[in-house]
Amino acid sequence: MDLVEVSFREADKTVFVQPGTTLLAAAEMAGVELLTGCTRGMCGTDAVRLAIDPADALEVPEDHERGTLARMGVGDDCRLACSARVARGRVEVLGDALE
Ligand code: FES
Repeated sequence: MDLVEVSFREADKTVFVQPGTTLLAAAEMAGVELLTGCTRGMCGTDAVRLAIDPADALEVPEDHERGTLARMGVGDDCRLACSARVARGRVEVLGDALE
């Protein structure tokens, strides 16, 4: 199984993780601290903006994540770090979705 490259632009850190790993777990592996809250896809504290189309490299969001992102009014390039699971290729996290 090919590893997925996950980079965090602001921290200038990159890790390679198994498909299915959440962005939050990848951040912890990289030593990057992200703000978190519920860790269940409900509060939106950990919404991050990505450099690529999330559909290309991440699993499809589950209903609770999709609902939280819609409630927040952020774009399609944003996902919740606690809930978004990498699938393939390369993912670049630009930073907080609300900045
Ligand atoms: S920490 Fe609450 S949605 Fe991820």
